[in-house]
Amino acid sequence: MTQTETAGGSKLWGGRFEGAQDPRFEAFNRSLPFDRRLWAEDIVGSIGWAGALHGAGVLTAEEAKSIITALEHIGAELDHDASPLATSTAEDVHAYVETALAARVGDLAKKLHTGRSRNDQVATDLKLWCRAAGETLDEGLLEAMQALVTLAERHATTAMPGYTHLQRAQVITAGHHALAYVEMLERDRSRLHDALARLNTCPLGSGALAGTAFAIDREELAGALGFAGPTSNSLDAVSDRDHVSELAFVCSLIGVHLSRLAEDWIFFTSTEARFLTMSDAISTGSSLMPQKKNPDALELLRGKCGRLIGRMVGTLVMQKGIPLAYDKDLQEDKEALFECVDTAKECLAICAIVARNVDYDIERCTAESAKGHLNATDLADLLVRRGTPFRHAHELAGKAVRLALAAGCEVERLDKAQRDALMPQLADISNAQLAIELSPQACLARRAAHGGTSPARVIEQVSLWKERLESWNNRS
Ligand code: ARG
Repeated sequence: MTQTETAGGSKLWGGRFEGAQDPRFEAFNRSLPFDRRLWAEDIVGSIGWAGALHGAGVLTAEEAKSIITALEHIGAELDHDASPLATSTAEDVHAYVETALAARVGDLAKKLHTGRSRNDQVATDLKLWCRAAGETLDEGLLEAMQALVTLAERHATTAMPGYTHLQRAQVITAGHHALAYVEMLERDRSRLHDALARLNTCPLGSGALAGTAFAIDREELAGALGFAGPTSNSLDAVSDRDHVSELAFVCSLIGVHLSRLAEDWIFFTSTEARFLTMSDAISTGSSLMPQKKNPDALELLRGKCGRLIGRMVGTLVMQKGIPLAYDKDLQEDKEALFECVDTAKECLAICAIVARNVDYDIERCTAESAKGHLNATDLADLLVRRGTPFRHAHELAGKAVRLALAAGCEVERLDKAQRDALMPQLADISNAQLAIELSPQACLARRAAHGGTSPARVIEQVSLWKERLESWNNRS
């Protein structure tokens, strides 16, 4: 058989065509290799559509029932074994399902596409897929948050150096550091929920672009498919992919957050810092250097972010300037979205595993917290408490640091006479007393205002997060 003879043979649109497609174009145009992931949604949407066609008087009750039963069987079979999707030559998942339906119900299958277009069909399938993907992303976020809260609980009182500009800044608690990422992931959840609420309108019944010419009850159809309501403009409905970019952005920001956590922990595990230890479960060795224990899990978490951002930008660029309504450019939405969601889910799972397989070296963290003049602000604050205006106190504390650097000691160990000459306000405080005032524990305890790093606040936040996570887990 020549290409011409097969023209449109297995296609949904053969009538107008005489010649065959160039095989390379045919392959270029096909989306089944990736949109087969939408098979379950395509069946659910088609079942909804069959019901709506019955409501509109296009299908008899019996016809609708046969179609729906057949679609359910196709779904059950694919659920059991999806391999036929991999070997099929159908153009896309919609053609696959319709062909499979025809194999079961014969000519009756030809009625299902009445008043429907693949344009409103694919838009609906994809929104249904987004909804399910949103649920698993949410679970992934909760799992990562749970693992971080557990780590934070174990180290709510562990002092460690905190950084700005990657220079030692002030002492913090390790638990506070872990909870910072819990905050980020909770914002990611909230962004995800926003995006899911916004995409929750049903495009089915919008036709190819102008709406459907049959008396479809779109409210009812939307409800049957679990949407809040129908979309209100058919042109927009078939070409709207805002939700693809929004979810890709949610995934990208998750990736950005995890890459920051990864970078922090890579540094914390370095020989230079040694604040954090990794179990063998998440480490790799070097093929050459026998001593190496590398943080590959963390580096991949950091690196995957590039793929997420790239794919997200791709969805935006693909949509830029395309005319209303549907254009085939939009077929490019799916691989990008699938890759974003898959990658974000995998990264969240790995993040949880890593968080369960790292631990702070309390001894090292405590020792390092007492070094590097992390308490210089507290020295200035001490002067403020004694009546010195902060700007002046800041300068005096800075000078004290300079003297300490020259002497190779910490500010609380300065020669008492030298200190008194610089800060007579503190002359009544002995070096031993000053060491207590400026100890990491004292510096931490002072930061007790809401949102601060003090152990008391961190313990409080840990229990709040535990309560929240428990109530969220119970709800689902
Ligand atoms: N495979 C197509 C997509 O993913 C389905 C819609 C096709 N519509 C069309 N008019 N060619 O966008």
